[in-house]
Amino acid sequence: MCGIIGVVGSSDTLGTLLEGLQRLEYRGYDSAGIALVRQGQTWRARTAAGTESVAALREECLSAPSGFSSGIGHTRWATHGAPEAINAHPHLDCSGNIAIIHNGIIENHTELQEQLEARGHHFTSVTDSEVLAHLIEDQRQLGLELSEAVRQSLLLVRGAFALAAMDANEPDVIVAARRISPLVVGTAPGVTYLASDVPAILDRATAFYAVNDDEVVRLGPEGFRATDLEGAPVRLRQLQIDWDLETAEKGGNDDFMSKEINEQPDAIRATLLDRRRRNGAICFDELRISDEELRDVKRVVLVAAGTSHHAALVAKYAIERWARISVEVDISSEYRYRDPIVEIGTLVIGVSQSGETIDTIQATREAQRRGARVVAISNIVDSSLAREADAVIYTRAGLEVSVASTKAFVAQVAALELLALRLAQLRSTLEPKDIDALFLGLNAVSAQVATTLDRRSHVELVAKELLHAHDFFFLGRHVGFPTALEGALKLKELTYLHAEGYPAGGLKHGPLALIEPGVVVVAVATDPSMHEKILSNLAEVKARGASVVAVATDDDEHIDSVADYVLRVPASEPMFTPMIDIVPLQLFAYSMARGLGRNVDRPRNLAKTVTVE
Ligand code: M6R
Repeated sequence: MCGIIGVVGSSDTLGTLLEGLQRLEYRGYDSAGIALVRQGQTWRARTAAGTESVAALREECLSAPSGFSSGIGHTRWATHGAPEAINAHPHLDCSGNIAIIHNGIIENHTELQEQLEARGHHFTSVTDSEVLAHLIEDQRQLGLELSEAVRQSLLLVRGAFALAAMDANEPDVIVAARRISPLVVGTAPGVTYLASDVPAILDRATAFYAVNDDEVVRLGPEGFRATDLEGAPVRLRQLQIDWDLETAEKGGNDDFMSKEINEQPDAIRATLLDRRRRNGAICFDELRISDEELRDVKRVVLVAAGTSHHAALVAKYAIERWARISVEVDISSEYRYRDPIVEIGTLVIGVSQSGETIDTIQATREAQRRGARVVAISNIVDSSLAREADAVIYTRAGLEVSVASTKAFVAQVAALELLALRLAQLRSTLEPKDIDALFLGLNAVSAQVATTLDRRSHVELVAKELLHAHDFFFLGRHVGFPTALEGALKLKELTYLHAEGYPAGGLKHGPLALIEPGVVVVAVATDPSMHEKILSNLAEVKARGASVVAVATDDDEHIDSVADYVLRVPASEPMFTPMIDIVPLQLFAYSMARGLGRNVDRPRNLAKTVTVE
């Protein structure tokens, strides 16, 4: 999740860019850079100093020449290529005149780079983004204006982008474009701005406009002109912004948790981008482990804590079902101390949003010490877990600030299920046509999550009605069980109420004794193959006086007979349901917590990352 900013026509170009980059800090970054452009000259500075990158950039810029009225700046959150200065943006073309910044992922960058290199272009970074500078250079050499060159280049590109380009031969123009990744334009008399998010330009611009997918905007000091990708003029929608900086950093939401819940469709989409080659092979660019080694895996052990542990539990079902490899899931704090058996062919997967959770790091170290190969699933590039592991897959959920993990969970499930499909592909345990269908289904989840988020107001009503309750049981079967565990964790950590996740089939083995009037049972009931069994479990708790809330699919006609409240979700392949079904449960926990006056971003007694045992 990179941050971008640009300005044309300013008397304080450097100040605008550096302040804007600082204000994008909440998006997280590992490196930063700017380019200042005027007739015939481009001046660039880049730093890679983790969260100190913008401060380091400020130092570098003390030597910047004065008199530039236009420039672009970028904070990078690495996806392709290590967080090093050579990979920091802006990237330049071969001539050094064209500078680009990019947030997103260019899916076909490998083939584009091969074609560009065959035409003599020289690349200096290990990023997917640099192809954009060279593509635009090619179009400029055909005599096209910068805006036209950008538009033509984007017709060749697959993937996600918020992009800004400048050319020293056409100074005082920035061309920006967007697909999927966010982009806004701002205006003030004689100055025009662009940014990933409003906070970067909040007190500089006086009017703000949203750029939509597949729109190209030419910015000059006098204002902007926008077209679609075919070149037809479009009008940008003006935004009503009456936020202070704090609200703006939360994207207009009341808190980071609701911002992060709302970002889940993007988190899934970004995690799945650029994961399939033309020949159909599922690929992870960053996974430094050979196909042969993956194919020969005999046993998988997943180690993780909290929410990441629940994502790991979902992965067990997917890997066993699709790749036919036996899977164990350990709570990471337990793994190290139980003298684990690590046989030849054991692959240990450490799952952690932060990549800094001490229990998970210690567990993977123990596994490595006993001879296992370790893959990290991390949301933070170059986290300790990622650095120490033999291989890594990055979820691309963007910075998660709220202590309660939300978007990281759905991104972890997406990444782990993709890995399960890769294992199945390598081991030929699924037909290619089944892998195609599952891959398509996985890519449809993001839209289904968006649909579910649109139903937020109904969840709020249900939470309001149940605000007096103190005891909650969350039930599920199959992957609905880890979803229930995660729903219960969200409720307990946010509201401080008693909430227990349980396999629905285990109810009769004890917990049923606790069911009485006043207890709320929340059931995940979206899997058709488990439906009858869940219905009878719910009938049992209802007969004992519990109030029943069910997460059920749109087409479920039977659920109303046993549930007092139904939270509807779109139907999908059962293995994908945790990413969809968790959404109403997150919203429920969030609404309950707000109703009870809790601090949703910082629940009592908890830290975002647990770094002590
Ligand atoms: O950074 P990690 O994914 O390793 O963190 C693991 C847990 O500490 C974390 O998921 C925690 O349980 C969250 N507060 C849950 O919302």
